Amino acid sequence: MVEILKVDNSVDNEKSYSQAVDLLNAEQLVAFPTETVYGLGAIATSEEAVKKIFKAKGRPSDNPLIVHVGRKEDVNKYVKEIPQIAKICMDEFWPGPLTLIMKVKEGVLANSVTAGLQTVGIRIPDHPVALHLLQQLNNAVAAPSANKSGKPSPTKAEHVAEDLSDRIPLILDGGATGIGLESTVLDVTSTPPVILRPGGIIKEMLEAKIGLVIEPKIAEQKNEMTPISPGMKYTHYAPNAPVYLIEDNEQIQNIINRLRCKGNKVALLATNKHKNIETDYFFSLGMGDNLEEIGVHLYDCLRKCDKTDATIILVTVTDKNGVGSAIMNRLQKASGDNWLK
Ligand code: TXA
Ligand code: MG
Repeated sequence: MVEILKVDNSVDNEKSYSQAVDLLNAEQLVAFPTETVYGLGAIATSEEAVKKIFKAKGRPSDNPLIVHVGRKEDVNKYVKEIPQIAKICMDEFWPGPLTLIMKVKEGVLANSVTAGLQTVGIRIPDHPVALHLLQQLNNAVAAPSANKSGKPSPTKAEHVAEDLSDRIPLILDGGATGIGLESTVLDVTSTPPVILRPGGIIKEMLEAKIGLVIEPKIAEQKNEMTPISPGMKYTHYAPNAPVYLIEDNEQIQNIINRLRCKGNKVALLATNKHKNIETDYFFSLGMGDNLEEIGVHLYDCLRKCDKTDATIILVTVTDKNGVGSAIMNRLQKASGDNWLK
């Protein structure tokens, strides 16, 4: 059974950290919070440890992991070279929700971290618990999101426990994560660089520092010529009931009435302006003042649907400006891009 250690000011944190460090050094798994979502960590140089991540998550072995480091200087140990553009990104956006894909140095990281690719994704997370853990450990940690493969990423320790409590020994509980969506993945091995997965660091922020950046549209990602992250081809972020996307307009109540007439139990995920709609379950994506807030609530709301008997889940869509690009990317995956009109 998993142990959940709260790492806040009311407890002896150093004891918790050394327990986590000892487990990692013993090639065991530890879940920990980052500013994006909770990660499921293993020592990145140990094949035996990294294999446990794939097993615990049920993750396909061709989907590479992100390597987390505590200091910029550490990156040199794992990559052949740091392109000039990557150096700028590291100075501007690290610690932070930006993963940089670079050419991997051979023979240092466990093979399954890179899933046989010539490249590796690296980032420094911007979260005090993650940073302290990495600095105490003094080693790189391979960590995907700490959910079962296919499920929404965990934004709270309890989400990790829901998915993995019988499979991992320890969760460091640092409370709810701040961003709620996974990091932006930027491939800096190609010129111009390509966003393989949109996230908290948006295209405009990157372009202000490094010039032109390519962000393929979802439709373009189906084209075999378009570079995408290996992971993006798999089902993602999916609760048990089917998810449908709906426009945010006055038709929502009619759509729900129709579905309920046919015997459906309907869960609606929308901002508070729709909270008076008559439906079986309503989960709030926030006040609706900004897109960041929707990002924070999205995975928690999707997970809450699994605790209901809803037979269909409706989510209102956002525009694709700013973080909206990352939100819509996740919603299109969660729904299989299915829309209700
Ligand atoms: O915010 C995040 O990035 C979180 C926290 C824990 O850091 N991690 C995370 O990891 O989202 P994961 O495994 O759920 O997603 C990693 C994504 C996958 O789509 C994977 O295919 C891609 O990054 N990726 C990793 N290494 C890659 C590489 N060498 N080339 C292309 N894509 C890569
Ligand atoms: Mg993931």
